[in-house]
Amino acid sequence: MEIIRGKHASFMDASALAERLAGYNTIHMDIGTGDGRFVRHVAQTCPDAFAIGVDACRENLHDVSRRAPANSLFVISNARTLPPELCGLAAQVTINFPWGSLLDGLLTDDPALLSSLEAITCPNASLEVRFNGGALAEAGWSLAAGGERVWEVLAANGFHMRPPITLTARELRSLPTTWAKRLAYGRDPRAVYLRGVKKA
Ligand SMILES: C[S@@+](CC[C@H](N)C(=O)[O-])C[C@H]1O[C@@H](n2cnc3c(N)ncnc32)[C@H](O)[C@@H]1O
Repeated sequence: MEIIRGKHASFMDASALAERLAGYNTIHMDIGTGDGRFVRHVAQTCPDAFAIGVDACRENLHDVSRRAPANSLFVISNARTLPPELCGLAAQVTINFPWGSLLDGLLTDDPALLSSLEAITCPNASLEVRFNGGALAEAGWSLAAGGERVWEVLAANGFHMRPPITLTARELRSLPTTWAKRLAYGRDPRAVYLRGVKKA
């Protein structure tokens, strides 16, 4: 799989990845990680965890990956075609404020995206997804209807989902992602939070 550190991209195979992961209790993957700030937060606050950020856009990853903690890694990949090296590894998956094909895939039950999510997760893995009202509106959905739609898609694809929660600007401010901060201080600080667990 293709990884990046600073502006330097390279390839890592499954055995090199296994060496990096050795000794960590749990693996967290953040899909559509953007600038990777959330991954850095997980790595810094959970030293027993290994955090992997994935994004299709390599430019986003330059800054954080240059100074990435030892227990983190940044992978360049489309979420619809995640590398086989990641299969079955994730005990926690987050998708924070998706847009583009990542958001569309969740709304349209895209088989490539949903099978990728199924492939990277281990049994009982937790999944957390946060959406913002503006991105859903651009995709043609209200916040509530979009949240319900993705809830149904994830429930139909092997996750036990808990009821959607609406996030306030205050809650967004406390989330360690760049997009959450932007939303919290912007004109439309509305978001919905979905969480579930992969069926064993
Ligand atoms: C609004 S940004 C959110 C970034 C970050 N999660 C945050 O909260 O700050 C959405 C990110 O999703 C990524 N993205 C969109 N479609 C994707 C796909 N199919 N595969 C991987 N990443 C994707 C974009 O490149 C972008 O970095």
